[in-house]
Parts: sequence; structure tokens; C-alpha cells
Amino acid sequence: MKESFVRPGMNRRQFLSVIGGAAVAAGVSTIPTFARAAAPLALPPLPYAENALEPVISARTISFHYGKHHKGYVNKLNELIKGTKFADMPLEQIIIATSEKTNETPIFNNAAQTWNHTFYWNSLRPNGGGAPPAKLKKKIEESFGSQEACEKELAEAAVSQFASGWAWLVLAGDKLKVLKSPNANTPLTAGLKPLVTIDVWEHAYYLDYQNRRADYVNAVISKLINWEFAAKNLG
Ligand code: FE2
Repeated sequence: MKESFVRPGMNRRQFLSVIGGAAVAAGVSTIPTFARAAAPLALPPLPYAENALEPVISARTISFHYGKHHKGYVNKLNELIKGTKFADMPLEQIIIATSEKTNETPIFNNAAQTWNHTFYWNSLRPNGGGAPPAKLKKKIEESFGSQEACEKELAEAAVSQFASGWAWLVLAGDKLKVLKSPNANTPLTAGLKPLVTIDVWEHAYYLDYQNRRADYVNAVISKLINWEFAAKNLG
């Protein structure tokens, strides 16, 4: 397992305790939307209108989050990789190639944030939540005992992530796991396959919920989480 998912804020011991020390070789996510054929990298379109997630997440939040933050990561990444060996590399490869390279941290951060945000937009949908598709539901029940237990663990990870970061449901070996990661860190660098994520940077919720991160997280899980996207990623 690569170390880079353990970057700032989480040491290797803590990370291994989270994932139960599993030796994972799930491979990099094969979700096709993030690959690119040529530079510069384009900001992927939102999969819905900016107001489609209201009232859980306002159009104003999405406008800033997607139109300023996500776009900013893409633009910065393009600026950083222009004329370098990363210029024509698929996004996932840039992330993996720059993880653990301290001299490439700005590229890693902007590449991982570009990927994480696209994954986040797809992890949500209007009228989400509810029951997952049958195959995913079975996997959730095998791994957590029940959907309720899975959602509780995901919420706890999202709420307890100190400062900025992400909560993830991933496939680790043949089991589903809940993880949290600080800053731009992504399970891709540990060879884990993400199914869904929740952004818990303050820019994801502060305009709507101020300091009430738990309210944002619980509303996202019960009303927006895109189980169909998760099922597609499970394969
Ligand atoms: Fe974000």
C-alpha cells in the first residue's frame, strides 16, 4: 500500500487502524469521466443544475463551490503542469505520480482536489438517499451489518474529520470500508476504489449551515447521496 493517502494529519498507524490493516489491491477507480485525451484539463460539467440540490445545498453554495473552488483547482493545475511531463497525463496518473513527492505537493493537491470534487458532484443527486440498488445493499449489509450502520459510520467519519477533508465509502479488498482523509488526500493513492464521498471542507457547507457540519452531513446522507453512482463504481 502506498503511503500517500496518509499525508498531512493522518499517520500510517492511524490510517491502517481505520482500514483494519487490510492489504488492498482493488486498483484505481475506472470511472471514465475523469480521463482526458489532451491538455489543458477541462472542468467537467456539473451533472445537474446549480439549484438542483436545494434545499439541502443552496445554488449559492454550489455556485461558489463549483464555479470558484473546483474551477480554481483545475485552472491552477493546468498552470502548474504546463510544459511538464504531467501535461498530457490522465488525471489519476498525475495524482499517483505526485503523491509522496514533496517537491510536487502543489500539483498533487490541485490534481487530487480536481478529481475529488468531480467525484463528489457525482456522489450527490437530487432526490438521493433511500435504499441502494440490491447488489450494493447486500455488500453494505455484509460489511456493516445494515445500511443504517453504514450511514452512521459515514456520518461519524465526516463529522469527526478534523478541519478540511473528505469522508469516503470505499471498496477495500472484498469489503466496504468508511474512511476519512485530510486536505486533498484521496483513496486512489492507496489503491482503494472509492464508491462515494462527502466534502467536509467548510466551503462545502458554511454558507448554508455555518458551523453545523453534522446537519449538512446528515442531510446529504439522507437526501442526496447517490447510491446508483456508488453501485456503478462497485461494478
Ligand atoms: Fe470542496
